Amino acid sequence: MNHRSWTRHARTVGVVAAAGALVAAVLPVLAASAGQTLAQVATARGFHIGTAAGVRTLASSQWRQVADAQFNSVTMGNEGKWDATEPTQGQFDFAAADAIADYAAATGKRLRGHTLVWHSQLPSWVSTDRTAAAQRQVLIDHVTGVAGHFAGDVAQWDVVNEPFNEDGTLRSSVWYTRLGESYIADALTAARAADPAAKLFINDYNVEGVNAKSTGLYNLVQRLQAAGVPIDGVGLQAHLIVGQVPSTLRQNIERFTALGLKVEITELDVRIPLPADTAELTQQASDYRAVVGACAAVAGCTGVTTWGVGEVDSWIPAFFPGYGAALLFDEQWRARPAYTAVVEALGGTATVPAPPPVPSQVSVASFPFESGLAGWGSRGSEVTTQVTTVAHGGTGSVLSSGRTATWQGPTRPVLDLLAPGKLYTVSAWARTASGTGTARLSMQRQNGTATRYENVSANTAIGTSWTRLSGDYLFLPGATALSVYLETTDTTGDLYLDDVTIETEGPPVSSSASASASASVSVSPSRSPSVSPSASRSVSPSGSPSASPSQGGPAGCAVRYTTNDWGGGFVGDVTVTNTGAAVNGWTLRWTFAGDQRVNQAWGATVTQTGAAVSATNAAWNGTVATGAAVNFGFLAGYTGGNARPAAFTFNGTACTVS
Ligand code: XIL
Repeated sequence: MNHRSWTRHARTVGVVAAAGALVAAVLPVLAASAGQTLAQVATARGFHIGTAAGVRTLASSQWRQVADAQFNSVTMGNEGKWDATEPTQGQFDFAAADAIADYAAATGKRLRGHTLVWHSQLPSWVSTDRTAAAQRQVLIDHVTGVAGHFAGDVAQWDVVNEPFNEDGTLRSSVWYTRLGESYIADALTAARAADPAAKLFINDYNVEGVNAKSTGLYNLVQRLQAAGVPIDGVGLQAHLIVGQVPSTLRQNIERFTALGLKVEITELDVRIPLPADTAELTQQASDYRAVVGACAAVAGCTGVTTWGVGEVDSWIPAFFPGYGAALLFDEQWRARPAYTAVVEALGGTATVPAPPPVPSQVSVASFPFESGLAGWGSRGSEVTTQVTTVAHGGTGSVLSSGRTATWQGPTRPVLDLLAPGKLYTVSAWARTASGTGTARLSMQRQNGTATRYENVSANTAIGTSWTRLSGDYLFLPGATALSVYLETTDTTGDLYLDDVTIETEGPPVSSSASASASASVSVSPSRSPSVSPSASRSVSPSGSPSASPSQGGPAGCAVRYTTNDWGGGFVGDVTVTNTGAAVNGWTLRWTFAGDQRVNQAWGATVTQTGAAVSATNAAWNGTVATGAAVNFGFLAGYTGGNARPAAFTFNGTACTVS
């Protein structure tokens, strides 16, 4: 089984789907209660309504439920930019961008590529001193590498992003300064060669109305057309301020479509000074109606993309301090008035969609260090021991002593605990043995030969009293090894570590929004970010990798089996709630109805003989208390149908199934 060397599709469709397996189960209910969604209204008239997507937003079941239902197009938010795709010259990294592409494929959405050549979010190597010829080659190699990787998948590429100054002259970027205007033709030509099917766009902001900048763009595309350079469309970003939709928007769109070009509104948001009041939200709705209406009224204007779904994934609050409320959904994923306006602008009748259920936060692992190191050890020559002299909770903790470098500290492999594509909250308590220092939690992620060190919690001053370190970690696909560790930036002194927890999204908490969707979920939720290790619902790593299966036999179990299926393959997500006596070691068995074959699993060891499957606990989740639940997932392929297994047994006892 070598899933690491799978093709882009085989690998990452599954990975992204893993985060959304839950979504698949609740979506039909959400859609049904929502009536005709924005995406359905758009699709019915051959229009595209899109959102920017990011690997981080994809890990949110709430984001996905709204995006799955409401948009029929997605744009790479940051994942397709140069710093993400070619951080080191000649070494392309598509893990994150693949996740967006595969999300689009798995959910049947059109994909917009963003962006091949830009002056921003460039790694520093791009701008180091070199000849014009070498700089041109850097550009062509990048465009060829990225557009070639996604060839056939991307409907439209923002080939050149933001090339203009406000007065309509070309911006003095590293590209223009070193290569002159020819860089634009070079980029377009290389993109066409690498992906003949993709429509090639030039994209900019403040080009929505007829003005000096949009006229600069208008003149440029005419020059390109005259020179026979491939150019298919212009993107009007449309980062607007409430009440300020340019009156010449439609006229401007029409002058571009009159050149035979497509026009798209590519990054729409309408920001409001915070707090937004009702009058501003009403004005915003009419702004959205005006923008979408102007585009939809012109045959060559083929789509509108908003720059995110809701408050949570909007770039506005961070980039325009004091502004926000710029997108169609609010901080709780409730539709704003602008939602209805957009549906109506596309000729539909809006039914305000129910917000998606709030997910629970479930424990993936907890390390209270009450007995032994539970798999923790040293990163270098320092010494890692379990001690009972100092503790944050209980009576045990870990001491890291004899450190001789800042990077040394307690570490533990966690590859088998985490599922790629998911977002985790990693927390721990740390202190020094004496004096003060600055500590943080980090991850060491190995992708074949490449090693990445990823900061999880912020640098935090610690002293001789316990301090909590906590942060989110998005586990990108493709890792061959992964370890969590504690490090310090400024000391070689002794450190204590205790009560490390790893949590992630679980099934929905409440049944309020989609009653029948969440009614089947039988885990007890805990949304509290400060889940104490002892309160951890289900999982308490035993530290012994050989926790023997089938110890104890429950009198009852409830299985929730969901799949996210893309035809020929699927991600299975299984939650078992133990309604019987506590178990220490478990095996869940079922028989596939067709020729499904599991080829990767996380959270359990899955073996298959013919159609019979058995999933045995991992070293760290064998103990399941009464009423607690345990979750694992797997990736499988099939050629016939993908009917659900009818029955499951948990340590030999038949389970109820939902
Ligand atoms: C923004 C992203 O949304 C942010 O997350 C990032 O930090 C900066 O870039 N014009 C563009 C987009 O073409 O790529 C920008 O996206 C917003 C402005």
